[in-house]
Amino acid sequence: MGLRAPVLLAVLLGMARQMAAQPSHAECQALTDHYLDKHHKEAEPYTGKNLLYFLHVPRTAGRTFHSCLLKMATHPARRCPKAYDHLRLTNMTNPNCFLLSSHDDFSVVSMLPPDAAVLTQLRDPLDRFLSAYEFAIEVASRSLKRPKNYKKKVGRIATEDVWPWSYLIPFFQADLQSKVPKVQDQVLPEGGRWAEVEQDGDRFYYNKVLNKSKWNLTEEERTLNGGVLPLLDPYNNELVMSLKEFAEHPIATELLHNGATFQVLGITNYSHWGDAAQFRGCLKAQASVEEHMLQVAKDRVRRFSHVGTTDRLFDSAAAAVGSLGLSTDSPAYSGGDDDVAGHGGTRASRTSGGAQRRHTRGASSLAAQLQLLAKLVREARQRLQTAQTELVDAQRSGGDHGVIELLRNRVDKARQDLIDAQDKLSTTRDQLPADLGGAGGDSSSDTSYHHRRRLLAEEEGSHGSEEGDIASGHVGEEGAPVTDTGADGAGADSQADAEGAGEQYPLDSEGEEEASHRRRLAFRNIEVGQTDAFGNPLDPEFKKIANSNIAAEFVRCANRAQARSNSRREQSLAALSYPDGRSVLFSKAARKRIPAEVLDLIRSHNKLDTQLHALGLEMLAKRIEELKEAGNWDPVPEQPHERRKGGDGKRTGRLPRPDEEEEKIDDELRRL
Ligand SMILES: *[C@@H]1O[C@H](CO)[C@@H](O)[C@H](O)[C@H]1NC(C)=O
Ligand SMILES: *[C@@H]1O[C@H](CO)[C@@H](O)[C@H](O)[C@H]1NC(C)=O
Ligand SMILES: *[C@@H]1O[C@H](CO)[C@@H](O)[C@H](O)[C@H]1NC(C)=O
Ligand SMILES: *[C@@H]1O[C@H](CO)[C@@H](O)[C@H](O)[C@H]1NC(C)=O
Repeated sequence: MGLRAPVLLAVLLGMARQMAAQPSHAECQALTDHYLDKHHKEAEPYTGKNLLYFLHVPRTAGRTFHSCLLKMATHPARRCPKAYDHLRLTNMTNPNCFLLSSHDDFSVVSMLPPDAAVLTQLRDPLDRFLSAYEFAIEVASRSLKRPKNYKKKVGRIATEDVWPWSYLIPFFQADLQSKVPKVQDQVLPEGGRWAEVEQDGDRFYYNKVLNKSKWNLTEEERTLNGGVLPLLDPYNNELVMSLKEFAEHPIATELLHNGATFQVLGITNYSHWGDAAQFRGCLKAQASVEEHMLQVAKDRVRRFSHVGTTDRLFDSAAAAVGSLGLSTDSPAYSGGDDDVAGHGGTRASRTSGGAQRRHTRGASSLAAQLQLLAKLVREARQRLQTAQTELVDAQRSGGDHGVIELLRNRVDKARQDLIDAQDKLSTTRDQLPADLGGAGGDSSSDTSYHHRRRLLAEEEGSHGSEEGDIASGHVGEEGAPVTDTGADGAGADSQADAEGAGEQYPLDSEGEEEASHRRRLAFRNIEVGQTDAFGNPLDPEFKKIANSNIAAEFVRCANRAQARSNSRREQSLAALSYPDGRSVLFSKAARKRIPAEVLDLIRSHNKLDTQLHALGLEMLAKRIEELKEAGNWDPVPEQPHERRKGGDGKRTGRLPRPDEEEEKIDDELRRL
């Protein structure tokens, strides 16, 4: 390439940056070339001996999938440390562990070992979007009840620390703070007002002032103080930004719409690639780029070791187990965040005797420090992205060697700063008591760090810490709607495929047939390693859940996770209420009432994800067929989750259920 073209390009790029909404054709061409040049690393087949990376798309029940399935199926000595707020690996290319999960996008894969295998879960984008809206509001609403001097719980990765919630939750907090107090200042007239409400699928009338519920109202009640207040639409009310407004808001485009495709492409808002935002602009502006990248995403996903879908969560779990060379009867292992590679569970390192859990005094004083360090990590990441963008611009514009060298150094420096910042955060976190997510650190202790971790690993009971993990508000509040397929009326048109588009592009690796063949061969030859990454033989009994297996543990764990997230959701949302007693309550019934126009709007913003999800369904069906052929298909029994009906006085936000007998008597008395 001559010198002139890049110079011209740089000018165009500069212009396009200022008009981010409309990137030029030339800029998009350059970015596409750059993308294809830099992002060619693909997932490799899983052999049982290579790193498995779970690309966790937010709101796909990925948390359940990871904690209740992948983690339990993986011996603790082979698991990587938790990685939701930041990757806690000291050496990305040689992580010394075999199961890693994070909300990072595919751009992280280029930093992982060359043979890393990848798996993911996809979801109907409409359900995913609704779920994200509901979840962000739920978490944001908790801030309404917090005292002014509220301090974050120590040692937990708060949802607010995890992308994309790190943006969405403050966004909704600000929205709620501008709306809720005004609504709650309204004063009810004497005698109150009757309002139509819905709870556990029942509709009835409630009068907050009288604290009374009724199935039917008398004429007098019906006209009391201006009449009956209508049922509150949780997706459209005065307390919080409506679903429609949110779907049209730039932040939804930035962080949610087509998010699964962007994550697979490695071009999300959280990408390690500095030009990701511009490139997303190109996909939006130019149909040819969009189509091309959809094809890249599909080809990429076809190389994944497992692709499942949230709407078939239990089938996906069974398929994943088969795809990873296990069976649903394989052993399940418990263990919390400390039960990771290097901290026990191998014959070489197992020691006897249980230690008492240590508590560090002054743990709460670490809270502020942790928050600061987490902030520094985010800032360092931002600086790295900026530095990368500048370097790429300079390279494109054929800037002089000195300048490029300078910028390159700046990128290296920024990268090192990010690593340092992450290390500091990890180290500080490790000083927390173990039950708060740290290593139980106690600086006065003379035991070594690893020894302490090992003792803690031994001490933890055999069962159950994974529940706390899901429910305790670690990243866990995923609320995996296990059985909730939500409003999915418009799914059928998703079949339309840009399948043919591939031919035009040299990048396309191999036909679907071939890819599928590769995967088939791969999962038949998997032999799960029986050592940790250092070659120490695993202790097969370590943290093994007695008399159980993966399938049983998955069902138990997934159902429990859902039950907890349901009840937590209800409690959190109780803060979002009118003085008349009506509150924002997301439910299946309420989803069904969302106007088609709003659903169509969301769909129209998620065309890529709709197609990717369709491919996911197709791949899952195919994989199940392959497993059946191989005699390795063993479905996980889906047990419908039991809903608790009726009031539980202890839970906040519950309305009293109307008492039918009493009401009938009332009625009869009135008629006398
Ligand atoms: C990371 O591991 C690789 C492969 O073992 C090694 O070559 C490299 O030096 C390591 N990097 C660091 C920073 O330890
Ligand atoms: C409202 O009535 C129910 C019983 O119908 C009772 O359990 C609840 O405590 C009452 N709430 C208030 C705020 O008085
Ligand atoms: C409420 O009214 C409906 C008809 O309008 C009636 O069928 C039902 O029995 C009534 N319920 C009670 C508890 O009175
Ligand atoms: C990510 O999105 C947030 C919210 O829209 C925005 O403030 C931030 O600048 C974006 N970051 C990048 C790197 O694009």
